[in-house]
Amino acid sequence: MGDADKVFQSYGRSCNNPVFYEDFYNAFMNKSADIRAMFINTDMAAQRGLLRGGIMWLVMYARGMSDNKIRALGESHSRKNMNINPAHYSLWMDALMETLSKHDPQFDAELERTWRATLRPAIEIIQTMYDQ
Ligand code: HEM
Repeated sequence: MGDADKVFQSYGRSCNNPVFYEDFYNAFMNKSADIRAMFINTDMAAQRGLLRGGIMWLVMYARGMSDNKIRALGESHSRKNMNINPAHYSLWMDALMETLSKHDPQFDAELERTWRATLRPAIEIIQTMYDQ
């Protein structure tokens, strides 16, 4: 099985449990007061649903889908729109790994490396679009 398929299967074991997204945002917001502040006026029930699709876009890009959805995230998260500091993506990734380790019974150090390497190209596109 290729790396993108391993990640797809891992997400499949995790994504149907709504608690996954609650655990993710709890972990992410615990990373920094700056991050908590950004979601102060956010409808978190809706946001959890949006994240479910957002992670799927990252995974599908790794499996060969076009970059349209990734570029849309790059645009919405850019300086001129939501102004998401590119440095925050490493905290986002750490929070995702913590959450996967709780929810995917097959998660281990090797699968964590595979997840990080597989999502990296899409996240780099989003970070690079910050100033465009
Ligand atoms: C909104 C996904 C990283 C903060 C959104 C939305 C999606 C999404 C799908 C809904 C709006 C849209 O479609 O653009 C993602 C993905 C990320 C990521 C897949 C990782 C690659 C981050 C990071 C932050 C962040 C690092 C920094 C704290 C926000 C905020 C909103 C948002 C503040 C708007 C919330 C609101 O409507 O009040 N994100 N995001 N995101 N994201 Fe992200």
